[in-house]
Formats: sequence, C-alpha cells, structure tokens
Amino acid sequence: MRVIAFNGSPRNNGNTAIMIEHVLAILSKYNIETEMIQVGGQVLRGCAACGWCGRNPVKQCVINDDPINEWIPKIDAADGIIIGSPTYFANMTAETKALIDRVGYLSRRNSNFLQRKIGATVVSFRRAGAINVFNSINDFFLINQMILPGSNYWTLGMGREPGDVASDTEGLKTLETLAENMAWLLRLIVGANNDPLN
Ligand SMILES: Cc1cc2nc3c(=O)[nH]c(=O)nc-3n(C[C@H](O)[C@H](O)[C@H](O)COP(=O)(O)O)c2cc1C
Repeated sequence: MRVIAFNGSPRNNGNTAIMIEHVLAILSKYNIETEMIQVGGQVLRGCAACGWCGRNPVKQCVINDDPINEWIPKIDAADGIIIGSPTYFANMTAETKALIDRVGYLSRRNSNFLQRKIGATVVSFRRAGAINVFNSINDFFLINQMILPGSNYWTLGMGREPGDVASDTEGLKTLETLAENMAWLLRLIVGANNDPLN
C-alpha cells in the first residue's frame, strides 16, 4: 500500500508540511509506504486545454518542461493521494491548482487512472477561507471517482508562521482521525483488490 502526498505550500517546512507529515506518520505505523512531494515553489504551468492527453494514451501531459510528468507515474502507482495547500486569498495555491488541473484533465481524458484511489485533503490557514480550499480539492477527488475517508471535523490547521500549526491541538487531532480512517479504508480496499475471491 502506498500513499503519495503533495505539499502545495512554497514553504517546504511550513504548516502544511507539518500537517501532511502528521498524517503520514500514522499511515507509516500501519506499514503503508509514504512519500511527500514538494509542489509549492515549483514553476508549474496550468493546463493548456489542448486535448493532447486525450489523443495520446500515454498517461503524460504535452507540457514537458516542469515536473508534473515525473509525478504522474507515482500517482498512478499510489493507492492513496493526499493534497495539502495553505489558504491563499480563500483559495488553494497556484501550484496546487496547476497540479489538479493537469492531472485531473489527463486522468479524465486518458484512462481514469484516479478512479477508486483514496483521497484526502489538508488545509492550513491563518483566519478564514480554508473551507473553500478544502471543498475545492475534495471536489477534484470526487469528480475523478475517488473515495474519501472523513474525520470528526474538517481537516484544517490554524497558524500563520511556519510551525504555528503545532499549537492547534484540535486541528492535529482531526488529522489523526483522518489518518486512522484512511489507513482503515486502504487496508480494506487494497486488501479486497488483492483477494483472489473478488
Ligand atoms: C499570498 C497569501 C495569501 C494568504 N491568504 C490567506 C487567506 O485568505 N486566509 C487565511 O486564513 N490565511 C491566508 N494566508 C496565510 C496562510 O494560509 C497561512 O500562513 C498558512 O499557515 C501558511 O501555510 P504554510 O506554512 O504551509 O505555507 C495567506 C498567505 C499568503 C502568503
């Protein structure tokens, strides 16, 4: 079982990274392999809307001068995907949006490779607007036929400066519940897929 996480913050070790690592640490306890990829701060182009991906069944984007094509095989091989973003003017970061648009369009036009993977969203924020980011990323997962575990509250972490989120005890607890539910679902679904009776 494998989970790949994307940190949409340009801060490599900021609040979003802390939140993602908090979830990944719990997944690791269940022997789930994890990897975090730094998305924020990369120079990423948005979708060109050229339709090349629909005409060429190679699970690659025509834009080849940024790292998104390197990440696609990792996404394809993963059972679960976590996307984390800070809240920027009540929205996700530009890099997170580029990732979503490029990978989502490719999956839909190509072989629906996101279908039935497990998705989870984590969002950092200072004061307001985070629920919009949370809903937007979850909308991306859902329209690509992914399966989403919940938590006991929305998985948002409050903080401004890097590290502040470590003081948001309730936010961290919400992430722990998400991680437990994600691990439970992964073991159920991946285990069932590997069951020869199925
Ligand atoms: C350009 C920019 C816009 C921001 N907009 C918002 C916002 O709309 N709402 C909010 O609560 N925080 C906003 N913030 C604060 C960040 O969401 C917050 O500091 C977050 O913890 C950063 O996470 P990071 O350390 O992972 O980068 C903004 C920060 C920046 C740099």
